[in-house]
Amino acid sequence: MALRRKLYAGSDFRRALSIEELRLIARRRVPHFAFEYVACGAEDEVTLGWNRAVFDTIRFLPRTLVDTTARHQRIDLFGREANAPLVIAPTALNGIQRHRGDVALACAAAALGIPFCLSTFSNVRLEDLALEAGGRLWMQLYVMKDRSIARAILGRADRAGYEALLVTSDANVFGLREWDRRNYREPGKLTLRNLVDVARHPRWAFDVLVPHGIPRFENVLDFLPPEARSARAGVAYLARLLVPDVTWDDVEWLRREWPRRLLLKGVLHVADARRAADLGCDGIVLTNHGGRQLDGCVSPLEVLPEIARAVGHRLAVIVDSGFRRGTDVVKAIALGARAVMVGTAPLYGLAAGGEEGVGHALGILSGEVDRVLGQLGCTSLAELGPHVLVRQQARQDPSGAA
Ligand SMILES: Cc1cc2nc3c(=O)[nH]c(=O)nc-3n(C[C@H](O)[C@H](O)[C@H](O)COP(=O)(O)O)c2cc1C
Repeated sequence: MALRRKLYAGSDFRRALSIEELRLIARRRVPHFAFEYVACGAEDEVTLGWNRAVFDTIRFLPRTLVDTTARHQRIDLFGREANAPLVIAPTALNGIQRHRGDVALACAAAALGIPFCLSTFSNVRLEDLALEAGGRLWMQLYVMKDRSIARAILGRADRAGYEALLVTSDANVFGLREWDRRNYREPGKLTLRNLVDVARHPRWAFDVLVPHGIPRFENVLDFLPPEARSARAGVAYLARLLVPDVTWDDVEWLRREWPRRLLLKGVLHVADARRAADLGCDGIVLTNHGGRQLDGCVSPLEVLPEIARAVGHRLAVIVDSGFRRGTDVVKAIALGARAVMVGTAPLYGLAAGGEEGVGHALGILSGEVDRVLGQLGCTSLAELGPHVLVRQQARQDPSGAA
């Protein structure tokens, strides 16, 4: 008789055993347009799919009969301990999943003892977040056409005590997420079908829309003319501010201006990784923006070993895109990453259960990391390396190293 396997089909996020089950709860909990905004990738979603498939090209080679009772997953990140090798990635518009979603994400990160990175396009002002959430806060920066915006944001982040500035370099030519776009008649205006769907989610509507209306881009509100301050008009206006004239000169400039940790997010080529190190960056994030930008792009995992070898001793190599399991995280650390950023996974938790839901998502991931470590016969992440992996070579490694 065939096994009757079914994933959890209820709505209690506490019963989700995996990020996949949280995804399914999130899909039921929020309107289609809000879910699709998180879940979709660019164009044919080839990058999105490959971000997951690449993990299957790497398998573990465990050792046995090792006492792993005292295992832990703490890491050193910029001279401070993080309780797990995770960072919550910057994601825009978190307020459409839950009211004050940014605060919920940051509080859950603080509770676990990992950093949270706020997006330039957040729905909460960076100063308010610092007051409400505490914990380790990083500020993500989109450098826009008018450089005075970047200057103002970094000044504000400095005064608010943010630990790091993370500059995103891979989204000024914006990816076309077709499934997301199809939900709108024109920027910011949902199709009739989606409006009906919103009406079918009263619990979400009362949390997100009532009494505050569609969440606005609070962080950059001061830079928008009065007629572009509504959420709807803001989308179109901000899209025009993202222009592709950002270069290494901007990184040099930001390095001079920003006094604390500087990270560059959007690196995939080893020459760019070297250049970031030469310019004094403290970290880089290898990413393809979670499959939301260039379709048919390499997975950061493919380039990670080469980049970690080249610059891992000079700066922190962080990686993201497609991480949904502790096994994924452990594979990345074994290939040379210092930490892993997660974007979609905590957002599914947020949509499914607010701050507690994010905590649940992070708990699932760190619980899985802990189990994998034990099953590999390791007591800490420091013991990991290529020796715990068997790799099916997906890309010719020019250095010829394993
Ligand atoms: C809904 C959503 C919004 C995002 N917004 C931003 C953003 O404002 N700035 C940024 O640098 N990256 C943004 N990203 C990319 C994430 O920071 C991160 O690179 C990506 O989510 C990692 O892949 P994962 O979602 O598979 O974990 C966004 C990602 C998602 C899913």
